[in-house]
Amino acid sequence: MKKATLFLTITTLSTLFLSHSAFAELHPGKVLHEDNNCLKCHVDKPYNPVKTDTYPKLVKSIRSCNDNLGIGLFDDEIEELADYLNDTYYQHKK
Ligand code: HEC
Repeated sequence: MKKATLFLTITTLSTLFLSHSAFAELHPGKVLHEDNNCLKCHVDKPYNPVKTDTYPKLVKSIRSCNDNLGIGLFDDEIEELADYLNDTYYQHKK
């Protein structure tokens, strides 16, 4: 095999592998959570499933952070964040 071919093969394989595992691991809400610096505040104020005790309240809390802080998320992004935070911290029934 020529060097260039070998290089291409390795690049293609690793791209396939990486994009596959990225899909498997990354919830779109996790990406939004990181990109919008939610943890800047919520490391000190951890998500509290007792205080926010239903899924609709969770959506509402995210919406109020979004509105009050002018974060500028769309409704579908708020849903994705709610889904991610619910899976990760709250585990409420939807
Ligand atoms: C500038 C700081 C700040 C940022 C940035 C911020 N929040 Fe908040 N968030 C708060 C505060 C303050 C509260 C109210 C906490 C309280 O009353 O104890 C809150 C409450 C919440 C709650 C309910 C908390 C609970 O205990 O259940 C959720 C969920 C939430 N925020 C999600 C988000 C998400 C998602 C983002 C990113 C898009 C975000 N917040 C960004 C400050 C922030």
